[in-house]
Amino acid sequence: MANFTKATSIKDWLNQRLAIEKVEKVMMSEYWIPKNINFLWAMGMVLVMTFVLLLVSGIFLLMYYQPNVATAFDSVNYTIMREVDFGWLWRHVHGVAASVVFLIIYIHMFTGIYYGSYKKGREMIWISGMLLFVTFSAEAFSGYMLPWGQMSYWAGMVITNLFSGGSLHADFLVEWIRGDYVPAQAFLTRFFMLHVLLLPLAIMGLIGLHFAALRIPHVNNQDGDEIDFDVESKKYLAGDKAGSKVIRFANDFMSKDMMVVGVYLVFFFYLVFYNYGFAMDPVNFDPADGLKTPAHIYPEWYFLWSYEILRPFSVDVGLIAFGFAQVIFIGLPFLDRSPNTVPASRRGLFKYWFWAMLVDMIVLTAMGKLPPEGIFSTIGFVAAIAFILLWIALPIITKFEKKI
Ligand code: HEM
Repeated sequence: MANFTKATSIKDWLNQRLAIEKVEKVMMSEYWIPKNINFLWAMGMVLVMTFVLLLVSGIFLLMYYQPNVATAFDSVNYTIMREVDFGWLWRHVHGVAASVVFLIIYIHMFTGIYYGSYKKGREMIWISGMLLFVTFSAEAFSGYMLPWGQMSYWAGMVITNLFSGGSLHADFLVEWIRGDYVPAQAFLTRFFMLHVLLLPLAIMGLIGLHFAALRIPHVNNQDGDEIDFDVESKKYLAGDKAGSKVIRFANDFMSKDMMVVGVYLVFFFYLVFYNYGFAMDPVNFDPADGLKTPAHIYPEWYFLWSYEILRPFSVDVGLIAFGFAQVIFIGLPFLDRSPNTVPASRRGLFKYWFWAMLVDMIVLTAMGKLPPEGIFSTIGFVAAIAFILLWIALPIITKFEKKI
């Protein structure tokens, strides 16, 4: 056993048992951050804050929500919204956060793509980030089932139908996922379990992995500088703070992060109090009815781009294209063959690739919301083809990129 001495303070007592000073150094005061990064690098902290808001508001909602097909709708729309003091507030915080979190995730992802933050040494940051994206998507979908409104029911029907695999007719798989022939009590109970237990646990584990993956390569920077963190941190500790290219995470960089988080919270609560409607689908204020299909069934805005990749093709091709769109981003560190970790603006054809991909996904999102008729379905088709072609072109254009 280690040698324990009589503690001189509570901190010393804890330090002897938990090495809190060492942990504090590794995670906070000697976790080095480059000086040359902008507010986009605060999006990670904004995501942490949004996840905390989701967790806390979810715990309050859980006190009154009933996972039963006969009472779920009323427990949300009547009990929580009208009877419970401030129940409406927790619901609006939860609903707005569930939507805004995807906006921030997309900004965070595209920042990473723009600056090449997924490249050599940072692959695990990217892969754990993409796993977080997939898990968040499953979390949002399972949560959408819980109010048991018309859109919950029919979106649940459409998305679980995808697992029948088109002409493969794997109906047993769909029934196995639903626990029934159609979405019913077994379906609601298992999506409730996923939403409140299994997926949040997975998200917390993945956030831990994402942070651990950041510790060794450190965060990238906006100029594509190859920073030697050992040399620069020694310079800082020796007193040359101005000459060093790095600063401490805590409290120095964290104070900047908190400034951005503060501005974000003003925007967030403006949405919660004055503009929460965008996060609620009016069709979902009707209780689920298996005999009445809504005129248009569409997912929430953050799934529209991948939904639009499914829609313009025949069933089998559509499913393959959809599957491709779901997984392809994970492969980015391996498909981008250029060794340059610099902003896209300084890279050859990749700079056009970046903007083309961003615009294409915005177009797909817009078309996904519109009914698939006339010019909209043509634009959707072209944008879906462009998405696939852009990914096929990526390894080719980056292989021939000049080394900077
Ligand atoms: C809720 C989910 C997430 C949380 C809480 C989170 C948190 C963070 C934090 C705190 C950082 C460091 C600071 C920063 O660059 O912002 C970071 C960096 C990073 N994250 Fe995430 N992240 C999440 C999701 C994602 C997703 C979906 C991706 C995309 C695949 C991703 C990719 C990255 C990358 C590439 C970096 C490194 C940035 C750099 O080196 O400059 N993250 N993340």
